Amino acid sequence: MAFFDWRQHFTPFITHLQQSDQSRWADLLTRQLTHRFEDHPHGDVGRWQAALASLPLIDGASAALDRPAVTLTAPDALTGDQNDHLQQGLRGLMPWRKGPFNFFDTVIDTEWRSDWKWDRVSPHLADLNDRTILDVGCGSGYHCWRMAGAGAKRVVGIDPGLLFMFQFLAVKKYLGAVPVDLIPVKMEDLPENLESFDTTFSMGVLYHRRSPLDHLLELKGTLRRGGELVLETLVVDGPEGHSLMPEDRYGQMRNVWFMPSCPTLLRWMDRAGFRNVRVVDVSTTTTEEQRQTDWMRFNSLADFLDPKDPSKTIEGYPGPKRATIIAEKP
Ligand SMILES: C[S@@+](CC[C@H](N)C(=O)[O-])C[C@H]1O[C@@H](n2cnc3c(N)ncnc32)[C@H](O)[C@@H]1O
Repeated sequence: MAFFDWRQHFTPFITHLQQSDQSRWADLLTRQLTHRFEDHPHGDVGRWQAALASLPLIDGASAALDRPAVTLTAPDALTGDQNDHLQQGLRGLMPWRKGPFNFFDTVIDTEWRSDWKWDRVSPHLADLNDRTILDVGCGSGYHCWRMAGAGAKRVVGIDPGLLFMFQFLAVKKYLGAVPVDLIPVKMEDLPENLESFDTTFSMGVLYHRRSPLDHLLELKGTLRRGGELVLETLVVDGPEGHSLMPEDRYGQMRNVWFMPSCPTLLRWMDRAGFRNVRVVDVSTTTTEEQRQTDWMRFNSLADFLDPKDPSKTIEGYPGPKRATIIAEKP
């Protein structure tokens, strides 16, 4: 199995933590990454590492991070060989779920139009310019790149999914020392009460947590006083106090616990101690936003809805609707 040299990728971030009075986090993260990559390596890491390593070196690459597709460009046209290796390496990192990305001439049409979510969320944010940002459950890091494109000083994404990490590293391979990192850990793995981020995002994570109130408290602990939380999650219609807990799967997804109504979610946020809590967007997820593509060939939303009544999931629950909530830590 090809060895994944995690230190090569994460030492700059760990050094940054040490230099910014975060030795507690630096030590914990070093132990977690050693455990993950040396003591208990995932069976697919060798294959993904080989795909990453096979991506061709391209001189003078740069990125445009303020467009719907995160776009890598080069000063000179790629050779046929470079394009072939690029295609092959990126195909080795399938399925691509969150994006889109343009790797030079290769367009990755991902399962999700994550740019649509960004277009719904970003108009409501405090100016991201010069802010330090945490993106919890960041997937491939697509939104992290967009946050950097909006002027963030530093972006830290966390997500336990290792394929997502390799997809992120495929972009980063062409950008060198940019202050954007994806750390393959869960929210629960962070030290408590970091109190260091200006903005924390949690998009698409709350319903995966068995204890949503604890998730809100953990998120609050990451923020400095006056910092902003951006929470995006599945919701259902209903009065305050109502929430849906599926019997088993929801839209074929395992691991879905609580889908509150918006009034219930606002109450949870108040009780967790946030201030100035407001719902800025509620949108139904469509089969145009989440669909099968050439880069994600498994089933997608259309297969998870009732064919006779696409307003319902195949389990008979209301179809996916998502709300974005913004709040401040007092
Ligand atoms: C529905 S995706 C959302 C991805 C992205 N934030 C977006 O909005 O498009 C949920 C992500 O949360 C991650 N996740 C699940 N549980 C988590 C946890 N406890 N801590 C951090 N991330 C988690 C999953 O690996 C997955 O990538």
